[in-house]
Amino acid sequence: MKKTSLILLAMPSIHAGAWRYPGAHPGFQTDFEQMKGFAQTLERACFDGLFLPDTLAIRAAPMEALMRGHSVATLDPLTLLPALAAVTQNLGLIATASTTYNEPYILARRLASLDRLSGGRAGWNLVTSSNSNEAANFGLSEHMEHGARYHRAREFCAVMDGLWESWDEDAFCRDAQTGQYFEPSKMQVLNHHGEHFSVRGPLNVERPIQTRPVIVQAGASEAGRQIAAETAEVIFTYQTDLPSALVFYADMQKRAQVAGRSQALKIIPAVFVVLGDSLEQAQAKRRQLDELVDEASCLATLSIALGHDIAHYDPAGPLPDIPDSNASKSGRDRVVQLAKTENLSILDLARRICGYQGLEMVGTANSVADQMQHWLEQGAADGFNIMFSHLPGGATEFAEQVVPELQARGLLRTQYEGRSFRENLGLSKPERGYSRI
Ligand SMILES: Cc1cc2nc3c(=O)[nH]c(=O)nc-3n(C[C@H](O)[C@H](O)[C@H](O)COP(=O)(O)O)c2cc1C
Repeated sequence: MKKTSLILLAMPSIHAGAWRYPGAHPGFQTDFEQMKGFAQTLERACFDGLFLPDTLAIRAAPMEALMRGHSVATLDPLTLLPALAAVTQNLGLIATASTTYNEPYILARRLASLDRLSGGRAGWNLVTSSNSNEAANFGLSEHMEHGARYHRAREFCAVMDGLWESWDEDAFCRDAQTGQYFEPSKMQVLNHHGEHFSVRGPLNVERPIQTRPVIVQAGASEAGRQIAAETAEVIFTYQTDLPSALVFYADMQKRAQVAGRSQALKIIPAVFVVLGDSLEQAQAKRRQLDELVDEASCLATLSIALGHDIAHYDPAGPLPDIPDSNASKSGRDRVVQLAKTENLSILDLARRICGYQGLEMVGTANSVADQMQHWLEQGAADGFNIMFSHLPGGATEFAEQVVPELQARGLLRTQYEGRSFRENLGLSKPERGYSRI
């Protein structure tokens, strides 16, 4: 069936040169007034939601690279999003939280609170923590093994569901006449005893307005895709080209069907958008952003991506043959392939890797809208998670130029359909309840 409307989400810019771009606010992500303006711009433009990524440690990286990164220190999403809920009315608010370094009770409580105080706008990006340096902040000498992390995540999810079902919707009668505050038969004690968690419950927050927050997942591995298909409603992905995005889309829907899900998953690739009045101007802007990435820091980042120190090669020369290493193989192959396909020098390659390497739409408002429409109509995506060239300017340009174009094509709402995030995404009530693991 041909899809007719796009889901639009946005996240802070991750391009390493974004904070230095002329007109960008260098400390955007940690400045409340800036984040408030950003959320309000997105809401005026009828975006579905704002997504905040998160990690629980500064990555171990050479100081030369680390000291130049604008995402090194941010605000806790579950502190920032409730504040943004108070200054918006319709925007979905997606917090990233790890199942590896959290306990379900406290996270269920915080997300239920965000959902209630925002009028049903909470989302949870369930991550198992891709940053291995988080372990050292939680008394562990090693990061939990990948499969074990997903095993824990599965039980974590079940406990969260159980806790969010602690109260029936109408459990709180608050009858001042009789003095009865709630109806005991409408409270469920969980009594979960599993491999990783023992949680009695019930949760001491009322049932979330959306029954449970919208669950988002971005697992790319076999285990990651599987848990996403079984538990998530929205899938984030880093698909970079249409053919592989089509395969991924079909694979995820198939897995969801096999898992007994009756509702299609919403598949949302991340995209870096750079706008100009002409294609040439947008491309020049993209080059300018890449040039703002410091040379020493991007060479260090390229060495990490390749699993091989390239410091002693001529940065202006081509990438030599890189020996195999114990670092990520698929990541290394992608980088080597990029250098070959585009015939890049070591320095240009390093700038690309360190800047942003993923799906990008660089062009005019019209051409960006064309590409988004094409991906939607081909069935490769249900929408996009947008990173702007710089902030706040990149978001304002998108809202003023691309959004009216999408609206004129009937691809984006001109006003919100409902109040809750779930309604605006076109998701029905959660299908799944607590099931013991
Ligand atoms: C758009 C997007 C955003 C992500 N945000 C985070 C994040 O904030 N924190 C995190 O630890 N991982 C994040 N990830 C990584 C995923 O959670 C996941 O670890 C990664 O896709 C690798 O999949 P795998 O763990 O199944 O191998 C993100 C991935 C995508 C595609």
